[in-house]
Amino acid sequence: MKLTLLNGSPRGEKSNSQVMLKWLSDGYGEELPILNINTVQKHKAAILASLDADIIYMAIPLYFDSMPGQVMKFFEELSQYKVQLNGKKIGFLVHSGFPEGYHSYALRAVLESIADELGMEHLRTVIRGGSEGTRLMPENFQKKEAKAIRQIGKAIKSGHDILMMYLIHLLSLFTCQRQNRYRLSFLACLVSRMHTGIHC
Ligand SMILES: Cc1cc2nc3c(=O)[nH]c(=O)nc-3n(C[C@H](O)[C@H](O)[C@H](O)COP(=O)(O)O)c2cc1C
Repeated sequence: MKLTLLNGSPRGEKSNSQVMLKWLSDGYGEELPILNINTVQKHKAAILASLDADIIYMAIPLYFDSMPGQVMKFFEELSQYKVQLNGKKIGFLVHSGFPEGYHSYALRAVLESIADELGMEHLRTVIRGGSEGTRLMPENFQKKEAKAIRQIGKAIKSGHDILMMYLIHLLSLFTCQRQNRYRLSFLACLVSRMHTGIHC
């Protein structure tokens, strides 16, 4: 099973997306190249790697409530290869500066329809709020977030449900809180929304 990792951030290698994809790659258990698509010159290599893969996984930061322009351009180029992409899998980690996941719901819907349009099987979209600072903070300060994102890599490798694995490990963030109400509200949200794939 060949996995191609694509970084949708205009910041390229110096981005939060890069750090998160590195965590994901650790969880997958292989040091995978992370391909940036922040300039059109890099798109050809990313398209070739995508056509060669069984699964494409993209980290996409929310910019102005949408995807960065370069990512949109990349999809336009990728859509010329629908025949070759048919039946391959694609998944997304959408993350935002605002902490609430709902800012990313519209983008998630757009990405799901793009996956359909490309004839690809859509793996569930993971949404992470409050991602700014990921690249600046030492990993020691964000161990649990890193662990949760590693689960995405593990889930891709093992064929388990990506969102379920991510959320279960993210729960450990809350179990260290003293206030039970946080735990309870998170659990209620998790149970009620799990089937829709919404991360709260
Ligand atoms: C130009 C720009 C626009 C942004 N727009 C939004 C936005 O609409 N909503 C939001 O929650 N965060 C927004 N952010 C914050 C980014 O989503 C956040 O900082 C993210 O971690 C950037 O990831 P990256 O380093 O991988 O690019 C924006 C950031 C920039 C630089």
